[in-house]
Amino acid sequence: MDSLGTLRRTHTCNQLGPDHVEQEVILMGWVLRRRDHGGVIFIDLRDRWGITQIVFNPEFNGEVHNKAHRIRNEWVLAVRGTVYRRPADMENTKLVTGAIEILVDELRILNTSDTPPFPLDEDVEVSDNLRLQYRYLDLRRPEIADNLVMRHKAVTAVRNYLNANEFLEIETPMLTRSTPEGARDYLVPSRVNPGKFYALPQSPQLFKQLLMMAGMDRYYQIVKCFRDEDLRADRQPEFTQIDMEFSFVGEEDIIQVAEGMIQAIFKNAADIEVTPPFRHMTYDEAMQRYGTDRPDTRFDLELVDLTDTLKDCGFKVFRSAIDGGGAVKAINAKRCATFSRKDLDDLTEYAGRFGARGMAWIKIKEEEWQSPITKFFSPDEINAMRDALDAEPGDLILFGADKTNVANQVLAELRLELARRLDLIPAGVYDFIWITDFPLVEYDEGEKRHTALHHPFTAPQEDQIDMLDTQPGKVNSRAYDLVLNGNEIGGGSIRIHQKELQEKVFSVLGITEEEAGEKFGFLLRALELGAPPHGGIAFGLDRLMMILTGSSSIRDVIAFPKTQKATCPLTEAPASVARKQLTELSLRPDW
Ligand code: AMO
Ligand code: AMP
Repeated sequence: MDSLGTLRRTHTCNQLGPDHVEQEVILMGWVLRRRDHGGVIFIDLRDRWGITQIVFNPEFNGEVHNKAHRIRNEWVLAVRGTVYRRPADMENTKLVTGAIEILVDELRILNTSDTPPFPLDEDVEVSDNLRLQYRYLDLRRPEIADNLVMRHKAVTAVRNYLNANEFLEIETPMLTRSTPEGARDYLVPSRVNPGKFYALPQSPQLFKQLLMMAGMDRYYQIVKCFRDEDLRADRQPEFTQIDMEFSFVGEEDIIQVAEGMIQAIFKNAADIEVTPPFRHMTYDEAMQRYGTDRPDTRFDLELVDLTDTLKDCGFKVFRSAIDGGGAVKAINAKRCATFSRKDLDDLTEYAGRFGARGMAWIKIKEEEWQSPITKFFSPDEINAMRDALDAEPGDLILFGADKTNVANQVLAELRLELARRLDLIPAGVYDFIWITDFPLVEYDEGEKRHTALHHPFTAPQEDQIDMLDTQPGKVNSRAYDLVLNGNEIGGGSIRIHQKELQEKVFSVLGITEEEAGEKFGFLLRALELGAPPHGGIAFGLDRLMMILTGSSSIRDVIAFPKTQKATCPLTEAPASVARKQLTELSLRPDW
C-alpha cells in the first residue's frame, strides 16, 4: 500500500476535457471497472463527481503498468499523468470526460478492497437488505449519490428562500413530551428521573407555536421527526420536515410563501419550472371525485356517485350498502370492455386488499350491457347510469358498494391501479393541488370518540365555531394540505390562539380538563400570556425528494434509511442492551 504523502489532487473525475490536453494532472478515486487484455490497461476512475478513464501503457511506463496489473474493482488510487485526446472512434459521448483519457506516469495504491458483495458498475437485482447493510457501497452508485446531491440543493434552496423572507432557523428539542400527530411515540427513558420518559417529537408543532408566542414571528427548521407507525414506500420512522410557522397571517399568506418555496426547490434542485398559484379543491370535492384527500390529478378516471340513482335498485348488494347509509360509486374505464375474465379477477383481488367485498362490473357492448348484474336494473336506472357515467360501447364500469369511506378507498385504489395498467400517468407532469376545508374532527369507531383530522391545535372555521357543541362532525377546520401527483407533500393550518377555544376543542376530542392540564398545561398557560394569531405548515422533505428524483421509495433519497420493519441492517439497530443499562434506567423487562 502506498501513502498519500504530500500528493494532492488537481481535478475531480468529472472535470477534464479537450481544453486540458497535454496538462499534467493528479486524480484520486475508486476503480469502477478495469479492462486488462494483457496489453494496455484501461480503468474507469470514479469519484462523487464523475468518471475519468485512466490508461496504463507498458510502452510508456513499464514499471507503473506492471503495478497496475494487481488493481481490482473498488481499490482506491491516486494517479499522476498527462491528459490525452482519445482517438475519435474511442470517444465516449455519455461521459463528460469522454473525449480524453489520462496516460498514467505515477500510481499510488491508497487502499485495496475485497470483492464488493454486489457489483457497483451494473444494474443487477440485489436485495434491499444487502444494499442497506452495505449502504456506503450502495451510495457509491451515481443513481443514489445523485439523489443526495439533489437533496442538498433542495435544502440549500429552502434556506436561501426562507432566509430572504425574514424567517429565523431555530432548533427545538428532540427529548421532549409527546406531540400528537396521530402516530405512536418513540419513548426515551430518563435515567435521572426513574419511571419517567421523554418522547421523541412527532413534529415540532407545540414548540413552533410557542416560538410565535415568544415573538419570533417567522420560524423555520429542517428537522427530524419520529413516528412509530406502519411503514410504507412513502413513510419512514424518522423523516425530515421543512417546518414553518408565521404570526399575524391568514391561510393565503402561508400558502403564498409555501408556493414560492416549492418553486425555488424545483428550480434550484432540478431545474424544473413550476408556476404558482396552485389550484385549490375542497376536501369534500376531492373525496367525491377521487375518493381520497390526496388525489392524483394527472389523469381522469373520476369516481361517479350512483347512490341516489340506484337507491331503489333490485341488486341486493347495492341496496343493502345504500340502505345501511353507505354509497355505491363507480369508475368508467374507457375502452376497457376488452378486459378478460382474468383481468377482472385480478382487479377484484386487488380491490379486496383495500376492504372490498367484491367488485361488480359491467362491460358496455354495442348490443347489450354485459354483466351478471345487469338484470337487476330497470331501463330507467340503466339510462341514468349511462348518463352519469358517460358510458359508451367499449367501456367497462367498475363498482364499489359499501360504507362510504370503504367504497371511496377501494375505488381510489382501483383508479390508481387502472391508471398504471392503462399507462395513463404522464411523465414529467407536476400537478400541485391544495386541499382545503377539511373536517375538524372525524369519529373513531374503535375509540368511540372524535379525533382531530389534522392535530388538536388546528383552528375551526370562524363562522362554524357555534356548531362545535352541537354538530362537531360538521365543523370544518382551517387546515390545508399540498398534494403533488397523489402524494401528500405538506400540510398545515391556522392555529387556535385563544385558551377558551383550545379548551373547547380538547373537550370535543374527549380530552378531559385534567388530561388537558396534565399534557398541554404549558400550552394553555402560554395562550393566557399574549399569544398572537398564528399558523404554519410542514413539508415532507423526503417525499418531495422522492418525487423530484423520480424514485419509487423515500429510502432512495435518505442516506441511511430504515427497512420496512424499522431496522437498520448496517448498524443492526435496534439492538439489545446490557441488563446493567436497563437497571440504570429503572427498567425491569419481562420479555
Ligand atoms: P403532518 O403530520 O401532515 O403535519 O406532516 C407534514 C408532512 O410530513 C410528511 N410525513 C412523512 N414523511 C415521511 N414519513 C412519515 N412517516 C411521514 N409522516 C408525515 C408528509 C406530511 O405532509 N405539525 C404538522 C404540520 C403543521 O401543522 O404545521 C405536521 O406534522 O409529507
Ligand atoms: P354476488 O351476488 O355476491 O355474486 O355478487 C355479484 C357481483 O357483485 C360480483 O361481481 C361481486 O364481485 C360484486 N360485489 C359483491 N359485493 C360488492 C361490493 N360491496 N361492492 C361492489 N361489488 C360487489
